[in-house]
Amino acid sequence: MASASLSTLHGLAAALTSALVNVGIPILGLIILALLYAYPYRAFTLPYRNLQGPPPSSFVLGSLLTHAMAPLGAAYKPWVAKYGATLRYRSLFGAWTILTVDPVTVGHVLQHTRQFHRQATFNEFIGRICGKGVLVVENDDHKRQRRAVSSAFSAFNVRGMTPVLWEKSYELVKTLDALTGKGEAKDSTGTIDIHKYLMRATLDMIGLAGFNYDFESTGGRKNPLSTTLFGTVQLMQAPSLIRIFSSVFPVLFDAPTKLNESIVSTRRVMDTVGREIITARKKELEAEQVKVEKRTQLGMDAVSLLVKANMAADLRDDHRLTDNEVLGQIGALMLAGNETSATALTWASWHLAHRPDIQDKLRADLDSVDEDRPDVERLQTLPYLDQFVHELLRFDPPLHRVIRHCVEDTVVPLSIPVRGRDGKMMDSIKVSKGTEIAIAINEINRSKDIWGPDAEEFNPDRFAKAGIPASNVPGIWGNLLTFIAGPHNCLGYRFALMEIKIVLFVLVRNFKFEIDPADPVVERRVRSFTMRPVVIGRESEGIQLPVVLRPIKRD
Ligand code: HEM
Repeated sequence: MASASLSTLHGLAAALTSALVNVGIPILGLIILALLYAYPYRAFTLPYRNLQGPPPSSFVLGSLLTHAMAPLGAAYKPWVAKYGATLRYRSLFGAWTILTVDPVTVGHVLQHTRQFHRQATFNEFIGRICGKGVLVVENDDHKRQRRAVSSAFSAFNVRGMTPVLWEKSYELVKTLDALTGKGEAKDSTGTIDIHKYLMRATLDMIGLAGFNYDFESTGGRKNPLSTTLFGTVQLMQAPSLIRIFSSVFPVLFDAPTKLNESIVSTRRVMDTVGREIITARKKELEAEQVKVEKRTQLGMDAVSLLVKANMAADLRDDHRLTDNEVLGQIGALMLAGNETSATALTWASWHLAHRPDIQDKLRADLDSVDEDRPDVERLQTLPYLDQFVHELLRFDPPLHRVIRHCVEDTVVPLSIPVRGRDGKMMDSIKVSKGTEIAIAINEINRSKDIWGPDAEEFNPDRFAKAGIPASNVPGIWGNLLTFIAGPHNCLGYRFALMEIKIVLFVLVRNFKFEIDPADPVVERRVRSFTMRPVVIGRESEGIQLPVVLRPIKRD
Protein backbone atom coordinates (compact mmCIF):
# COMPACT_ATOMS: atom_id res chain seq x y z
CA MET A 1 0.00 0.00 0.00
CA ALA A 2 2.77 2.39 1.08
CA SER A 3 4.91 1.51 -1.94
CA ALA A 4 1.92 2.03 -4.28
CA SER A 5 1.32 5.57 -3.02
CA LEU A 6 5.07 6.25 -3.17
CA SER A 7 5.15 5.26 -6.82
CA THR A 8 2.06 7.44 -7.48
CA LEU A 9 3.92 10.33 -5.88
CA HIS A 10 6.96 9.62 -8.00
CA GLY A 11 4.75 9.50 -11.07
CA LEU A 12 3.18 12.84 -10.16
CA ALA A 13 6.56 14.43 -9.52
CA ALA A 14 7.86 13.15 -12.87
CA ALA A 15 4.78 14.45 -14.69
CA LEU A 16 5.12 17.82 -12.97
CA THR A 17 8.80 18.08 -13.81
CA SER A 18 8.16 17.17 -17.42
CA ALA A 19 5.29 19.73 -17.60
CA LEU A 20 7.52 22.39 -16.08
CA VAL A 21 10.28 21.58 -18.53
CA ASN A 22 7.87 21.50 -21.48
CA VAL A 23 6.03 24.69 -20.58
CA GLY A 24 8.59 26.48 -18.42
CA ILE A 25 11.49 26.39 -20.86
CA PRO A 26 9.55 27.95 -23.76
CA ILE A 27 8.13 30.61 -21.41
CA LEU A 28 11.58 31.36 -20.05
CA GLY A 29 12.85 31.53 -23.63
CA LEU A 30 10.09 33.97 -24.55
CA ILE A 31 10.87 36.13 -21.50
CA ILE A 32 14.56 36.20 -22.42
CA LEU A 33 13.71 37.11 -26.02
CA ALA A 34 11.32 39.85 -24.86
CA LEU A 35 13.98 41.26 -22.55
CA LEU A 36 16.61 41.14 -25.29
CA TYR A 37 14.21 42.97 -27.60
CA ALA A 38 13.10 45.51 -25.01
CA TYR A 39 16.54 46.43 -23.78
CA PRO A 40 19.71 45.75 -25.87
CA TYR A 41 18.01 45.36 -29.29
CA ARG A 42 15.82 48.44 -28.89
CA ALA A 43 18.70 50.51 -27.54
CA PHE A 44 21.01 49.40 -30.35
CA THR A 45 18.52 50.08 -33.17
CA LEU A 46 17.23 53.36 -31.73
CA PRO A 47 17.63 55.99 -34.49
CA TYR A 48 18.18 58.71 -31.90
CA ARG A 49 20.55 56.70 -29.71
CA ASN A 50 23.12 59.43 -30.13
CA LEU A 51 21.01 61.75 -27.93
CA GLN A 52 22.23 62.07 -24.37
CA GLY A 53 20.10 61.64 -21.27
CA PRO A 54 19.95 60.59 -17.63
CA PRO A 55 20.65 57.00 -16.60
CA PRO A 56 17.41 55.19 -15.65
CA SER A 57 16.68 54.87 -11.97
CA SER A 58 14.73 51.62 -12.39
CA PHE A 59 15.19 48.64 -14.70
CA VAL A 60 11.45 48.33 -15.37
CA LEU A 61 10.18 51.90 -14.93
CA GLY A 62 13.20 53.73 -16.32
CA SER A 63 13.06 57.34 -15.13
CA LEU A 64 9.27 57.56 -14.94
CA LEU A 65 8.99 57.64 -11.17
CA THR A 66 11.88 60.08 -10.80
CA HIS A 67 9.68 62.55 -12.61
CA ALA A 68 6.28 61.53 -11.22
CA MET A 69 7.32 61.63 -7.57
CA ALA A 70 9.41 64.81 -7.74
CA PRO A 71 8.17 68.35 -7.25
CA LEU A 72 7.75 70.42 -10.39
CA GLY A 73 11.02 71.08 -12.20
CA ALA A 74 13.06 68.75 -9.98
CA ALA A 75 13.62 66.20 -12.75
CA TYR A 76 13.35 67.92 -16.14
CA LYS A 77 15.21 71.11 -15.23
CA PRO A 78 18.51 69.49 -14.21
CA TRP A 79 18.29 67.11 -17.17
CA VAL A 80 17.93 70.00 -19.59
CA ALA A 81 20.76 71.87 -17.88
CA LYS A 82 23.01 68.83 -18.18
CA TYR A 83 22.12 67.26 -21.53
CA GLY A 84 20.75 70.16 -23.57
CA ALA A 85 17.41 71.27 -25.01
CA THR A 86 16.57 67.85 -26.44
CA LEU A 87 17.44 64.63 -24.64
CA ARG A 88 16.17 61.13 -24.10
CA TYR A 89 15.17 59.28 -20.95
CA ARG A 90 14.10 55.72 -20.44
CA SER A 91 10.48 54.94 -19.72
CA LEU A 92 8.65 51.65 -19.36
CA PHE A 93 10.29 48.28 -20.16
CA GLY A 94 13.27 49.71 -22.00
CA ALA A 95 11.29 52.17 -24.18
CA TRP A 96 12.65 55.70 -24.58
CA THR A 97 11.01 59.10 -24.44
CA ILE A 98 12.46 62.20 -26.04
CA LEU A 99 12.16 65.32 -23.93
CA THR A 100 12.42 68.69 -25.62
CA VAL A 101 12.33 72.38 -24.75
CA ASP A 102 13.47 73.42 -28.23
CA PRO A 103 10.75 75.78 -29.55
CA VAL A 104 11.25 74.75 -33.18
CA THR A 105 11.07 71.05 -32.37
CA VAL A 106 7.99 71.72 -30.25
CA GLY A 107 6.33 73.69 -33.06
CA HIS A 108 7.10 70.94 -35.57
CA VAL A 109 5.69 68.17 -33.39
CA LEU A 110 2.55 70.11 -32.44
CA GLN A 111 1.82 71.13 -36.04
CA HIS A 112 2.29 67.69 -37.59
CA THR A 113 -0.66 66.03 -35.93
CA ARG A 114 -0.89 63.24 -38.50
CA GLN A 115 2.61 62.10 -37.55
CA PHE A 116 2.35 62.89 -33.86
CA HIS A 117 -0.75 61.79 -32.01
CA ARG A 118 -1.54 62.13 -28.37
CA GLN A 119 -0.52 59.07 -26.37
CA ALA A 120 -2.74 56.12 -27.22
CA THR A 121 -2.98 55.38 -23.50
CA PHE A 122 -4.14 58.95 -22.82
CA ASN A 123 -6.78 58.73 -25.55
CA GLU A 124 -7.97 55.35 -24.31
CA PHE A 125 -8.02 56.37 -20.66
CA ILE A 126 -9.78 59.70 -21.17
CA GLY A 127 -12.10 58.18 -23.76
CA ARG A 128 -13.24 55.67 -21.15
CA ILE A 129 -14.16 58.48 -18.78
CA CYS A 130 -15.76 60.94 -21.09
CA GLY A 131 -16.41 59.30 -24.45
CA LYS A 132 -14.90 59.93 -27.84
CA GLY A 133 -14.97 63.72 -27.90
CA VAL A 134 -12.51 66.20 -29.37
CA LEU A 135 -10.13 65.60 -26.48
CA VAL A 136 -9.24 62.08 -27.59
CA VAL A 137 -9.79 61.65 -31.33
CA GLU A 138 -7.18 62.09 -34.06
CA ASN A 139 -6.88 62.91 -37.78
CA ASP A 140 -10.13 63.42 -39.77
CA ASP A 141 -12.39 62.72 -36.81
CA HIS A 142 -10.54 65.34 -34.81
CA LYS A 143 -10.74 67.86 -37.65
CA ARG A 144 -14.50 67.38 -37.97
CA GLN A 145 -15.21 67.49 -34.25
CA ARG A 146 -12.87 70.40 -33.68
CA ARG A 147 -14.54 72.42 -36.45
CA ALA A 148 -17.91 71.89 -34.78
CA VAL A 149 -16.87 72.58 -31.19
CA SER A 150 -14.40 75.40 -31.65
CA SER A 151 -16.96 77.79 -33.13
CA ALA A 152 -18.91 77.48 -29.87
CA PHE A 153 -15.89 78.99 -28.07
CA SER A 154 -15.27 81.89 -30.44
CA ALA A 155 -14.57 85.30 -28.87
CA PHE A 156 -18.16 86.31 -29.62
CA ASN A 157 -19.69 83.24 -28.01
CA VAL A 158 -17.45 83.40 -24.94
CA ARG A 159 -18.69 86.94 -24.38
CA GLY A 160 -22.21 85.50 -24.24
CA MET A 161 -21.08 83.07 -21.54
CA THR A 162 -19.88 85.75 -19.12
CA PRO A 163 -23.20 86.04 -17.18
CA VAL A 164 -22.72 82.52 -15.81
CA LEU A 165 -19.15 83.34 -14.81
CA TRP A 166 -20.27 86.39 -12.83
CA GLU A 167 -23.15 84.57 -11.23
CA LYS A 168 -21.07 81.61 -10.08
CA SER A 169 -18.22 83.86 -8.89
CA TYR A 170 -20.59 85.73 -6.60
CA GLU A 171 -22.09 82.45 -5.44
CA LEU A 172 -18.55 81.37 -4.54
CA VAL A 173 -18.13 84.54 -2.48
CA LYS A 174 -21.31 83.66 -0.59
CA THR A 175 -20.07 80.15 0.12
CA LEU A 176 -16.64 81.35 1.23
CA ASP A 177 -18.16 84.12 3.33
CA ALA A 178 -20.19 81.54 5.20
CA LEU A 179 -17.12 79.38 5.72
CA THR A 180 -14.47 81.89 6.65
CA GLY A 181 -16.03 82.84 9.97
CA LYS A 182 -16.19 79.17 10.91
CA GLY A 183 -12.78 78.20 9.60
CA GLU A 184 -14.33 75.37 7.65
CA ALA A 185 -15.33 73.77 10.95
CA LYS A 186 -11.72 72.69 11.45
CA ASP A 187 -10.46 75.65 13.41
CA SER A 188 -11.28 79.30 13.79
CA THR A 189 -8.34 80.75 11.92
CA GLY A 190 -10.27 81.32 8.71
CA THR A 191 -8.13 78.72 6.95
CA ILE A 192 -9.85 76.92 4.13
CA ASP A 193 -8.80 74.60 1.36
CA ILE A 194 -9.44 77.01 -1.49
CA HIS A 195 -8.67 74.38 -4.13
CA LYS A 196 -11.78 72.40 -3.20
CA TYR A 197 -14.06 75.39 -3.69
CA LEU A 198 -12.40 76.47 -6.90
CA MET A 199 -12.90 72.97 -8.32
CA ARG A 200 -16.59 73.22 -7.49
CA ALA A 201 -17.05 76.70 -8.92
CA THR A 202 -15.22 75.96 -12.17
CA LEU A 203 -17.24 72.77 -12.62
CA ASP A 204 -20.43 74.78 -12.29
CA MET A 205 -19.09 77.34 -14.75
CA ILE A 206 -18.21 74.85 -17.47
CA GLY A 207 -21.46 72.98 -16.79
CA LEU A 208 -23.56 76.06 -17.47
CA ALA A 209 -21.43 77.59 -20.21
CA GLY A 210 -20.70 74.25 -21.83
CA PHE A 211 -24.10 72.59 -21.74
CA ASN A 212 -26.49 74.71 -19.67
CA TYR A 213 -26.39 72.26 -16.79
CA ASP A 214 -26.15 73.51 -13.23
CA PHE A 215 -24.23 71.13 -10.97
CA GLU A 216 -24.96 73.57 -8.13
CA SER A 217 -21.77 72.41 -6.44
CA THR A 218 -20.53 75.90 -5.53
CA GLY A 219 -23.33 76.09 -2.99
CA GLY A 220 -22.40 72.62 -1.74
CA ARG A 221 -25.20 70.59 -3.33
CA LYS A 222 -24.39 66.96 -4.02
CA ASN A 223 -25.04 65.98 -7.59
CA PRO A 224 -24.59 62.40 -8.84
CA LEU A 225 -22.42 63.46 -11.76
CA SER A 226 -20.12 65.81 -9.86
CA THR A 227 -19.86 63.30 -7.00
CA THR A 228 -18.75 60.47 -9.25
CA LEU A 229 -16.50 62.72 -11.37
CA PHE A 230 -14.71 64.18 -8.34
CA GLY A 231 -14.46 60.65 -6.91
CA THR A 232 -12.71 59.47 -10.07
CA VAL A 233 -10.40 62.49 -10.15
CA GLN A 234 -9.55 61.85 -6.50
CA LEU A 235 -8.63 58.23 -7.26
CA MET A 236 -6.49 59.34 -10.19
CA GLN A 237 -4.27 61.36 -7.90
CA ALA A 238 -2.20 58.50 -6.62
CA PRO A 239 0.58 57.47 -9.04
CA SER A 240 -0.49 53.94 -9.96
CA LEU A 241 1.60 51.13 -11.39
CA ILE A 242 -1.50 49.56 -12.94
CA ARG A 243 -2.17 52.80 -14.80
CA ILE A 244 1.46 53.03 -15.89
CA PHE A 245 1.55 49.40 -17.04
CA SER A 246 -1.73 49.71 -18.93
CA SER A 247 0.18 51.45 -21.74
CA VAL A 248 1.95 48.15 -22.36
CA PHE A 249 -0.84 45.80 -21.25
CA PRO A 250 -4.14 47.45 -22.30
CA VAL A 251 -6.02 44.59 -20.64
CA LEU A 252 -5.25 46.37 -17.36
CA PHE A 253 -7.75 49.07 -18.32
CA ASP A 254 -10.34 46.47 -17.34
CA ALA A 255 -8.60 45.35 -14.16
CA PRO A 256 -11.01 45.40 -11.20
CA THR A 257 -9.42 48.38 -9.48
CA LYS A 258 -11.29 51.04 -7.54
CA LEU A 259 -10.30 53.59 -10.18
CA ASN A 260 -11.52 51.49 -13.11
CA GLU A 261 -14.80 50.81 -11.35
CA SER A 262 -15.20 54.51 -10.62
CA ILE A 263 -14.51 55.35 -14.27
CA VAL A 264 -17.24 52.96 -15.39
CA SER A 265 -19.76 54.52 -13.04
CA THR A 266 -18.73 58.08 -13.97
CA ARG A 267 -19.20 57.21 -17.60
CA ARG A 268 -22.60 55.67 -16.95
CA VAL A 269 -23.87 58.77 -15.13
CA MET A 270 -22.27 61.09 -17.67
CA ASP A 271 -23.99 59.23 -20.52
CA THR A 272 -27.37 59.38 -18.82
CA VAL A 273 -27.12 63.07 -17.98
CA GLY A 274 -25.57 63.90 -21.37
CA ARG A 275 -28.32 62.16 -23.31
CA GLU A 276 -30.95 64.01 -21.31
CA ILE A 277 -29.23 67.30 -22.10
CA ILE A 278 -29.00 66.57 -25.81
CA THR A 279 -32.62 65.43 -26.04
CA ALA A 280 -33.78 68.54 -24.20
CA ARG A 281 -31.74 70.86 -26.46
CA LYS A 282 -33.06 69.16 -29.58
CA LYS A 283 -36.64 69.48 -28.41
CA GLU A 284 -36.18 73.15 -27.60
CA LEU A 285 -34.61 73.84 -30.93
CA GLU A 286 -37.16 71.85 -32.89
CA ALA A 287 -39.92 73.77 -31.19
CA GLU A 288 -37.94 76.99 -31.76
CA GLN A 289 -38.34 77.69 -28.10
CA VAL A 290 -34.85 78.88 -27.37
CA LYS A 291 -35.55 81.74 -25.06
CA VAL A 292 -33.41 84.12 -23.08
CA GLU A 293 -32.56 82.24 -19.94
CA LYS A 294 -31.41 83.59 -16.65
CA ARG A 295 -27.99 81.99 -16.84
CA THR A 296 -27.11 81.82 -20.49
CA GLN A 297 -28.12 84.30 -23.12
CA LEU A 298 -30.09 82.93 -26.04
CA GLY A 299 -29.03 79.32 -25.49
CA MET A 300 -25.39 80.36 -25.83
CA ASP A 301 -23.98 77.31 -24.11
CA ALA A 302 -21.59 75.33 -26.28
CA VAL A 303 -23.71 72.20 -26.65
CA SER A 304 -26.83 74.17 -27.61
CA LEU A 305 -24.78 75.91 -30.28
CA LEU A 306 -23.36 72.58 -31.37
CA VAL A 307 -26.73 70.85 -31.55
CA LYS A 308 -28.15 73.83 -33.39
CA ALA A 309 -25.33 73.87 -35.95
CA ASN A 310 -25.57 70.11 -36.27
CA MET A 311 -29.28 70.31 -37.09
CA ALA A 312 -28.80 72.87 -39.86
CA ALA A 313 -30.24 71.52 -43.09
CA ASP A 314 -27.42 72.90 -45.21
CA LEU A 315 -24.63 71.29 -43.15
CA ARG A 316 -22.57 68.84 -45.20
CA ASP A 317 -23.19 65.28 -44.02
CA ASP A 318 -19.50 64.66 -43.51
CA HIS A 319 -19.35 67.64 -41.14
CA ARG A 320 -22.23 66.45 -38.99
CA LEU A 321 -21.55 64.89 -35.59
CA THR A 322 -23.38 61.80 -34.37
CA ASP A 323 -25.27 61.95 -31.08
CA ASN A 324 -22.49 59.91 -29.47
CA GLU A 325 -19.95 62.44 -30.66
CA VAL A 326 -21.99 65.34 -29.27
CA LEU A 327 -22.18 63.37 -26.03
CA GLY A 328 -18.40 62.98 -26.10
CA GLN A 329 -18.04 66.78 -26.17
CA ILE A 330 -19.95 67.13 -22.90
CA GLY A 331 -17.47 64.82 -21.22
CA ALA A 332 -14.52 66.49 -22.94
CA LEU A 333 -15.58 69.94 -21.75
CA MET A 334 -16.19 68.74 -18.21
CA LEU A 335 -12.80 67.15 -18.01
CA ALA A 336 -10.74 69.72 -19.92
CA GLY A 337 -12.48 72.76 -18.53
CA ASN A 338 -12.64 72.06 -14.83
CA GLU A 339 -9.35 70.91 -13.31
CA THR A 340 -7.24 73.17 -15.55
CA SER A 341 -8.90 76.46 -14.62
CA ALA A 342 -9.28 75.42 -10.97
CA THR A 343 -5.57 74.63 -10.81
CA ALA A 344 -4.62 78.00 -12.29
CA LEU A 345 -6.85 79.82 -9.81
CA THR A 346 -5.48 77.75 -6.94
CA TRP A 347 -1.93 78.85 -7.75
CA ALA A 348 -3.20 82.40 -8.10
CA SER A 349 -4.45 82.12 -4.51
CA TRP A 350 -1.05 80.84 -3.39
CA HIS A 351 0.74 83.81 -4.99
CA LEU A 352 -1.76 86.29 -3.56
CA ALA A 353 -1.30 84.90 -0.05
CA HIS A 354 2.49 84.88 -0.30
CA ARG A 355 2.89 88.24 -1.98
CA PRO A 356 0.75 90.88 -0.21
CA ASP A 357 2.46 93.56 -2.33
CA ILE A 358 1.19 91.95 -5.52
CA GLN A 359 -2.22 91.36 -3.95
CA ASP A 360 -2.56 95.04 -2.96
CA LYS A 361 -1.56 96.17 -6.43
CA LEU A 362 -4.06 93.83 -8.03
CA ARG A 363 -6.84 94.95 -5.70
CA ALA A 364 -6.09 98.59 -6.43
CA ASP A 365 -6.40 97.87 -10.15
CA LEU A 366 -9.71 96.03 -9.66
CA ASP A 367 -11.09 98.67 -7.29
CA SER A 368 -10.69 101.27 -10.02
CA VAL A 369 -13.89 99.81 -11.48
CA ASP A 370 -17.21 101.07 -10.14
CA GLU A 371 -19.45 98.25 -11.28
CA ASP A 372 -19.63 94.78 -9.72
CA ARG A 373 -19.93 93.16 -13.14
CA PRO A 374 -18.00 95.27 -15.64
CA ASP A 375 -18.42 94.44 -19.30
CA VAL A 376 -15.78 92.53 -21.21
CA GLU A 377 -14.17 95.70 -22.63
CA ARG A 378 -13.71 97.23 -19.18
CA LEU A 379 -12.37 93.99 -17.75
CA GLN A 380 -9.86 93.68 -20.57
CA THR A 381 -8.51 97.18 -19.98
CA LEU A 382 -7.43 96.46 -16.40
CA PRO A 383 -3.65 96.44 -16.87
CA TYR A 384 -2.45 94.76 -13.71
CA LEU A 385 -5.10 92.05 -13.88
CA ASP A 386 -3.87 91.26 -17.37
CA GLN A 387 -0.23 91.21 -16.25
CA PHE A 388 -1.08 89.02 -13.27
CA VAL A 389 -2.92 86.47 -15.43
CA HIS A 390 -0.07 86.37 -17.97
CA GLU A 391 2.47 85.79 -15.23
CA LEU A 392 0.28 83.21 -13.50
CA LEU A 393 -0.10 81.15 -16.66
CA ARG A 394 3.60 81.55 -17.49
CA PHE A 395 4.80 80.58 -14.04
CA ASP A 396 2.22 77.90 -13.21
CA PRO A 397 0.98 76.27 -16.41
CA PRO A 398 -1.66 73.81 -15.12
CA LEU A 399 -0.56 71.22 -17.68
CA HIS A 400 3.18 71.20 -17.17
CA ARG A 401 3.84 69.06 -20.26
CA VAL A 402 2.10 67.28 -23.10
CA ILE A 403 3.23 64.03 -24.68
CA ARG A 404 3.04 63.10 -28.33
CA HIS A 405 3.30 59.63 -29.82
CA CYS A 406 5.04 59.30 -33.19
CA VAL A 407 3.00 57.14 -35.58
CA GLU A 408 5.46 57.03 -38.51
CA ASP A 409 9.23 57.28 -38.87
CA THR A 410 10.25 60.87 -39.45
CA VAL A 411 12.88 63.54 -38.83
CA VAL A 412 12.41 66.52 -36.53
CA PRO A 413 14.46 69.71 -36.70
CA LEU A 414 16.36 71.18 -33.74
CA SER A 415 16.95 74.93 -33.53
CA ILE A 416 19.11 74.48 -30.44
CA PRO A 417 21.73 71.92 -31.52
CA VAL A 418 22.71 69.37 -28.89
CA ARG A 419 25.94 67.48 -28.44
CA GLY A 420 25.50 63.78 -29.17
CA ARG A 421 27.07 60.93 -27.23
CA ASP A 422 29.70 60.77 -29.97
CA GLY A 423 30.69 64.37 -29.18
CA LYS A 424 29.31 65.77 -32.47
CA MET A 425 26.60 68.46 -32.62
CA MET A 426 23.16 67.39 -33.90
CA ASP A 427 20.69 69.75 -35.63
CA SER A 428 17.96 67.23 -36.34
CA ILE A 429 16.96 63.83 -35.05
CA LYS A 430 15.47 60.77 -36.64
CA VAL A 431 12.41 59.65 -34.72
CA SER A 432 11.00 56.18 -35.13
CA LYS A 433 7.37 55.11 -35.04
CA GLY A 434 6.34 54.39 -31.46
CA THR A 435 8.58 57.04 -29.90
CA GLU A 436 7.07 59.39 -27.37
CA ILE A 437 8.05 63.03 -27.25
CA ALA A 438 7.48 64.98 -24.04
CA ILE A 439 7.08 68.72 -24.51
CA ALA A 440 8.14 70.42 -21.30
CA ILE A 441 5.72 73.36 -21.13
CA ASN A 442 6.81 74.44 -17.66
CA GLU A 443 10.51 74.49 -18.51
CA ILE A 444 9.88 76.48 -21.72
CA ASN A 445 7.63 78.96 -19.90
CA ARG A 446 10.38 79.48 -17.32
CA SER A 447 13.28 79.57 -19.75
CA LYS A 448 15.94 82.13 -18.78
CA ASP A 449 16.84 82.50 -22.48
CA ILE A 450 13.38 83.88 -23.15
CA TRP A 451 12.36 85.56 -19.89
CA GLY A 452 15.72 86.63 -18.56
CA PRO A 453 17.64 85.79 -15.38
CA ASP A 454 14.58 86.23 -13.14
CA ALA A 455 12.52 83.69 -15.11
CA GLU A 456 12.09 81.59 -11.95
CA GLU A 457 10.52 84.49 -10.04
CA PHE A 458 6.83 85.34 -10.00
CA ASN A 459 6.73 88.90 -11.22
CA PRO A 460 3.67 90.28 -13.07
CA ASP A 461 5.59 93.50 -13.72
CA ARG A 462 7.67 91.78 -16.37
CA PHE A 463 4.69 92.11 -18.71
CA ALA A 464 4.42 95.84 -18.03
CA LYS A 465 8.05 96.65 -18.69
CA ALA A 466 8.82 94.68 -21.76
CA GLY A 467 5.43 93.46 -22.87
CA ILE A 468 5.69 90.00 -24.29
CA PRO A 469 9.26 89.31 -25.41
CA ALA A 470 9.72 88.11 -28.96
CA SER A 471 10.69 84.48 -29.27
CA ASN A 472 9.95 81.52 -31.46
CA VAL A 473 7.81 79.77 -28.82
CA PRO A 474 4.84 78.52 -30.84
CA GLY A 475 2.09 79.15 -28.22
CA ILE A 476 -1.33 80.44 -29.27
CA TRP A 477 -1.42 82.97 -26.44
CA GLY A 478 1.05 85.33 -24.79
CA ASN A 479 4.18 83.74 -26.26
CA LEU A 480 3.61 81.00 -23.74
CA LEU A 481 3.14 77.32 -24.29
CA THR A 482 0.44 77.06 -21.62
CA PHE A 483 -2.37 76.45 -24.14
CA ILE A 484 0.09 74.85 -26.62
CA ALA A 485 -0.21 75.38 -30.38
CA GLY A 486 -1.20 73.62 -33.58
CA PRO A 487 -4.45 71.81 -34.42
CA HIS A 488 -4.85 70.46 -30.86
CA ASN A 489 -4.35 73.80 -29.11
CA CYS A 490 -6.63 74.52 -26.18
CA LEU A 491 -10.05 74.99 -27.60
CA GLY A 492 -11.31 76.70 -24.46
CA TYR A 493 -8.48 79.19 -23.89
CA ARG A 494 -10.61 82.30 -24.42
CA PHE A 495 -13.17 80.95 -22.00
CA ALA A 496 -10.46 80.00 -19.48
CA LEU A 497 -8.93 83.49 -19.60
CA MET A 498 -12.29 85.15 -19.11
CA GLU A 499 -13.16 82.77 -16.29
CA ILE A 500 -9.85 83.35 -14.47
CA LYS A 501 -10.18 87.12 -14.80
CA ILE A 502 -13.76 87.20 -13.57
CA VAL A 503 -13.12 84.89 -10.60
CA LEU A 504 -10.05 86.94 -9.61
CA PHE A 505 -11.96 90.19 -10.03
CA VAL A 506 -14.66 89.00 -7.65
CA LEU A 507 -12.52 87.14 -5.10
CA VAL A 508 -9.77 89.74 -4.73
CA ARG A 509 -12.31 92.54 -4.27
CA ASN A 510 -14.10 90.53 -1.60
CA PHE A 511 -11.33 88.77 0.34
CA LYS A 512 -7.84 89.33 1.64
CA PHE A 513 -5.69 86.28 1.03
CA GLU A 514 -3.22 85.34 3.76
CA ILE A 515 -0.85 82.47 4.44
CA ASP A 516 -2.20 79.73 6.69
CA PRO A 517 -0.64 80.38 10.16
CA ALA A 518 0.61 76.77 10.20
CA ASP A 519 2.71 77.89 7.19
CA PRO A 520 2.58 74.52 5.41
CA VAL A 521 5.23 73.63 2.85
CA VAL A 522 3.33 73.33 -0.40
CA GLU A 523 4.85 71.60 -3.41
CA ARG A 524 3.74 71.35 -6.99
CA ARG A 525 3.10 67.72 -7.91
CA VAL A 526 1.55 66.05 -10.93
CA ARG A 527 -1.79 64.79 -9.69
CA SER A 528 -4.36 63.32 -12.11
CA PHE A 529 -3.46 65.58 -15.05
CA THR A 530 -2.40 68.92 -13.70
CA MET A 531 0.31 70.33 -11.47
CA ARG A 532 -1.43 70.62 -8.12
CA PRO A 533 -0.59 71.60 -4.56
CA VAL A 534 0.38 68.97 -2.04
CA VAL A 535 1.17 69.80 1.59
CA ILE A 536 4.42 68.14 2.60
CA GLY A 537 3.88 65.83 5.55
CA ARG A 538 0.16 65.67 4.76
CA GLU A 539 0.40 63.99 1.36
CA SER A 540 -2.17 61.34 2.29
CA GLU A 541 -4.81 64.08 2.62
CA GLY A 542 -4.59 64.58 -1.15
CA ILE A 543 -4.38 67.83 -3.03
CA GLN A 544 -5.20 70.95 -1.08
CA LEU A 545 -4.20 74.54 -0.67
CA PRO A 546 -4.85 75.93 2.78
CA VAL A 547 -5.09 79.72 2.80
CA VAL A 548 -6.73 82.24 5.08
CA LEU A 549 -9.46 84.38 3.58
CA ARG A 550 -10.53 87.57 5.38
CA PRO A 551 -13.77 89.05 4.07
CA ILE A 552 -13.54 92.68 2.92
CA LYS A 553 -16.58 94.79 3.69
CA ARG A 554 -17.79 96.52 0.54
CA ASP A 555 -20.46 99.22 0.56
C1 HEM B 1 -6.04 77.59 -17.61
C2 HEM B 1 -6.86 76.72 -18.12
C3 HEM B 1 -6.52 75.78 -19.25
C4 HEM B 1 -5.31 75.34 -19.69
C5 HEM B 1 -3.94 75.70 -19.15
C6 HEM B 1 -5.53 74.45 -20.80
C7 HEM B 1 -4.54 73.83 -21.52
C8 HEM B 1 -4.76 72.94 -22.55
C9 HEM B 1 -3.73 72.20 -23.22
C10 HEM B 1 -2.25 72.29 -22.93
C11 HEM B 1 -4.34 71.43 -24.15
C12 HEM B 1 -3.65 70.44 -25.10
C13 HEM B 1 -3.67 69.04 -24.50
C14 HEM B 1 -3.06 68.05 -25.43
O1 HEM B 1 -3.28 68.11 -26.64
O2 HEM B 1 -2.34 67.15 -24.97
C15 HEM B 1 -5.75 71.68 -24.07
C16 HEM B 1 -6.68 71.09 -24.88
C17 HEM B 1 -8.03 71.32 -24.76
N1 HEM B 1 -8.66 72.19 -23.89
FE1 HEM B 1 -7.76 73.35 -22.52
N2 HEM B 1 -6.87 74.36 -21.00
C18 HEM B 1 -7.51 75.17 -20.09
C19 HEM B 1 -8.86 75.37 -19.96
C20 HEM B 1 -9.80 74.84 -20.80
C21 HEM B 1 -11.21 75.11 -20.71
C22 HEM B 1 -11.86 76.04 -19.70
C23 HEM B 1 -11.81 74.36 -21.68
C24 HEM B 1 -13.25 74.29 -22.04
C25 HEM B 1 -13.99 75.32 -22.18
C26 HEM B 1 -10.77 73.63 -22.38
C27 HEM B 1 -10.99 72.78 -23.43
C28 HEM B 1 -9.99 72.08 -24.08
C29 HEM B 1 -10.27 71.11 -25.13
C30 HEM B 1 -11.64 70.69 -25.63
C31 HEM B 1 -9.03 70.63 -25.56
C32 HEM B 1 -8.76 69.62 -26.67
C33 HEM B 1 -8.49 70.40 -27.97
C34 HEM B 1 -8.14 69.54 -29.14
O3 HEM B 1 -7.53 68.50 -28.99
O4 HEM B 1 -8.47 69.95 -30.26
N3 HEM B 1 -9.56 73.96 -21.82
N4 HEM B 1 -5.99 72.60 -23.07
